[in-house]
Amino acid sequence: MKIHKPYVIHEDRDHKFVWLGLDESDYERGVLTNQYLIVDGDKGILLDPGGYFVFERVFKNLKDFVKPENIVGLFYSHQDPDVIGAMNLWLDTCPNAKVYISEIWERFIPHLGMSDPSSSERIVKIPDRGMEFKIEKNQVRAVPAHFLHSEGNFHLYDVKSKVYFSGDIGAAIFPKGKWSLYVQNFDEHVKYMEWFHRRYLPTRKALDVWLKRVKELDIKIIAPQHGSIFEGDNVKKFINWLDKLDKVGIDLME
Ligand SMILES: [Fe+2]
Ligand SMILES: [Fe+2]
Repeated sequence: MKIHKPYVIHEDRDHKFVWLGLDESDYERGVLTNQYLIVDGDKGILLDPGGYFVFERVFKNLKDFVKPENIVGLFYSHQDPDVIGAMNLWLDTCPNAKVYISEIWERFIPHLGMSDPSSSERIVKIPDRGMEFKIEKNQVRAVPAHFLHSEGNFHLYDVKSKVYFSGDIGAAIFPKGKWSLYVQNFDEHVKYMEWFHRRYLPTRKALDVWLKRVKELDIKIIAPQHGSIFEGDNVKKFINWLDKLDKVGIDLME
């Protein structure tokens, strides 16, 4: 099992979109997760920072790109343990970071037991319609993706790099040894995604609403929280695949 170093998936002068590495042996402990960092100038925002057991690796890798005190945002797509599990540690180690999370999950966050109760004042509630905010001069957009799979769910579109962080959409669950950072052969890759999307997404309607929204965006790369990154033709292939995914969730219940 390999340990992978961070990889810059987009770079444009002082703007970077970074994948923060992976220890493939995490496979033994829980679902493999991707963490990403957007750096603009000397400031950064961390996307789906992850659970407890990945904290050490993510924190160490992040410091190669930005100082922890210059992390200005922690973006959480939704409330799952593999997304928010280490929030306490992040609040303590990145004292200037605000937490961006759906307004419907904000009131549940204090149950993590924050070491500093005033930390709850650092939470920015993302309204259901989504919002835009800045990291330095760079604009990012929290795009609504409700019920995919969480009831209050957001993705993050980085306007400058055109990288779209898609949370659990695009997730792939690999058998041991099959992980790859980028999707190599889309048709082969489908078998690692299909079960996840059919079982975790509750209804086709949520997909249709979201697909309409993302088709209006200029997307170069789709970066999911689990599995492999879609680039070039694979972005379109992935969108088309979701378009044709006939039944998910309750449609399949008997
Ligand atoms: Fe999830
Ligand atoms: Fe997840």
